[in-house]
Amino acid sequence: MRRNKIWMGTSSDHKFAEAREVMKEYGIKLERLNIDRVEIQADDPELIAEYSLKVLDIEVPILIEDAGLYIDKYFGFPGPYSSYALRTIDNEGILKLMECDEDRSARYLSAVAYRDGEISITFTGEVTGRIAYEKKGTGGFGYDPIFIPDEEDGRTFGEMSPEEKAGISHRARAFRKLAEWLKNRN
Ligand code: IMP
Repeated sequence: MRRNKIWMGTSSDHKFAEAREVMKEYGIKLERLNIDRVEIQADDPELIAEYSLKVLDIEVPILIEDAGLYIDKYFGFPGPYSSYALRTIDNEGILKLMECDEDRSARYLSAVAYRDGEISITFTGEVTGRIAYEKKGTGGFGYDPIFIPDEEDGRTFGEMSPEEKAGISHRARAFRKLAEWLKNRN
């Protein structure tokens, strides 16, 4: 089975664009399958991605990513409810919730579940940081305007170029692990 072309099942333009650029660095072509995946209720993004992949009845090399924002003070909330929280209270609601909080530490997690005719395997990526006091920047998507990664200079992901975000993001880290693994295997 050819593995230099892989499909990503996602309804998100942003997630697909970020993932495609990382895989391109390794000469792997990522194609998009525009689907609304089945998401189980679980705390762990690995379990969510793996289940979404398991119920997909497709015979090509394919992957599913599950990602979310985990705020330490709130025991990981919104975590697996990240898209729900964004649709309902949005970034403004998160900022309001944390108005009086000094502990603003948070992390993004990404889990990428991959499958082809021979194997199923999952890789994870993480970036630690903190929640800003206000929204900043128009880049990225979702929670990016309120997330400040530790490894940079105090700017939010929303204030960074796609290349800067890809240098340290949870998604890029998980996809790089997958790409390295695929390269070593071929
Ligand atoms: P999903 O369940 O993996 O599709 O993602 C859950 C939610 O987290 C979505 O609403 C995204 O907007 C948000 N999210 C995931 N990754 C990122 C990111 O890299 N930046 C900002 N928001 C993200």
